[in-house]
Amino acid sequence: MSDRPLTPLRYDFSGTIIPETGLSPEDLTWIGPRLEAARAEVLADLNLFHQGGPVPQLKQPLDAGFTDLPDRLLDEYAQKGDSSELGQILATAERLRKLANRVVILGIGGSYMGARALFEACCHPYHNELPDDKRNGCPRIYFEGNNLDNAAMVGLIELLSLVGGDDWGIVVISKSGGTMETAVALRLLVDALRQACQGDAQKIRQRIVPITGQHGRLRDLANALGTPDVFNIPDGVGGRFSVLTPVGLLPAAVMGLDIIRLLEGARAMNDRFRESPPGDNPVLDYVGVCHLMEAWRGANVRVLSTWGKGLEAVGLWYDQLLSESLGKDGRGALPLTVVNTRDLHSRGQQHQQGPRDKLITNVRGQRYHPGVLTIDRWDMNQDKLNELAGTAIPEILEAATQGTNKAYHDDRRPTADIDLGELDEGALGQFFQMMMLATVVEGRLIGINPYGQPGVEAYKKNMNDILRGK
Ligand code: PA5
Repeated sequence: MSDRPLTPLRYDFSGTIIPETGLSPEDLTWIGPRLEAARAEVLADLNLFHQGGPVPQLKQPLDAGFTDLPDRLLDEYAQKGDSSELGQILATAERLRKLANRVVILGIGGSYMGARALFEACCHPYHNELPDDKRNGCPRIYFEGNNLDNAAMVGLIELLSLVGGDDWGIVVISKSGGTMETAVALRLLVDALRQACQGDAQKIRQRIVPITGQHGRLRDLANALGTPDVFNIPDGVGGRFSVLTPVGLLPAAVMGLDIIRLLEGARAMNDRFRESPPGDNPVLDYVGVCHLMEAWRGANVRVLSTWGKGLEAVGLWYDQLLSESLGKDGRGALPLTVVNTRDLHSRGQQHQQGPRDKLITNVRGQRYHPGVLTIDRWDMNQDKLNELAGTAIPEILEAATQGTNKAYHDDRRPTADIDLGELDEGALGQFFQMMMLATVVEGRLIGINPYGQPGVEAYKKNMNDILRGK
């Protein structure tokens, strides 16, 4: 247990209660029992998953393993300490931090988006630019293997060969172990590592940490390379539900983040999900509001309106989760992350006056900063900011948030708020778990299996066929 108490995440949907364009309290009362039934189904899915028996055809695939994973990992850590999976993740992260001044995280989709979200939300905004003694012993972090961009790869390899010496390493993440983007990047970087380590096989294998499924090409490669650590992505946890497995936990620990607190946040959300009734349950309330807005008001665009730069990758993580989970059978809402106030100047006009097909959900959290900047009084005043002398940047952001919400409300555009409080690992653990649970609850509510991604498999197969001349 960490010492600091968690601030419970708050989901406030009062801004969606608007006649004609939004919802009424009666709507939410009506959907309550349906949400409870969907929750019961999600919990029954978890039991089915743990029983390990045959899964009915309709439920396949059933990747329900993420549901109680935070609880299981924390319990095991409490019982077994260093020899538990969390203990091993922490030890490997420490080993890598000592060995490497730069770590490249290779993965695509669910295999890297959670780590990137944690990096951008919780690490210093200029982490990689900080001098070594200001990064708390954490390596610089890069993300690759998430595209097929020659220039980007050349640039990274050039950078590593110019400044990396041999003190850099790779965390390679792929559940299937066969994803082209990640496999190609690994091959190229292992070549670069071979050069950097002058072919010393022992040095090379110490600098690579694979995270993969029980079987597959990456597992085979890890065995062939003889890497001292290989982490498993458990069966029954899909890529976009894997942020709280080694997929997100090892990179986070390498970044120096508190992964225990991350899991405690997720466990706290699980407790609320299981125990609280609709109306006081962030998961069920979020699903109820989003579903009713979509089904009854045609709001099939879900704008995750993040306030502050640190939350953009968190939003992108959710975009992927929702798109791949519920975008099936010609259905599924379109998630869209915006970062304000930046995007008020690019998308704001449309959100204010365009089609009424959007539900805005604000996501707010106070990112850690060692000082608060305020506007100074100057001896010039052409910019007319002397009137605001002494006003802090967060106060200006708050005014922008309130002003935007009021403008939407005046135009009867429904908005909801997710308030994360202090933007730390505990808050993100709650958010990740809330959104993963919400996605599967919604899937069960509307009869779409949230697991699996059959559409993406088609592109992978076609690409392979083209490359291999089939
Ligand atoms: O959510 C998913 O399952 C996907 O986004 C995968 O994470 C992504 O396709 C990468 O797959 P893999 O981890 O097998 O390389």
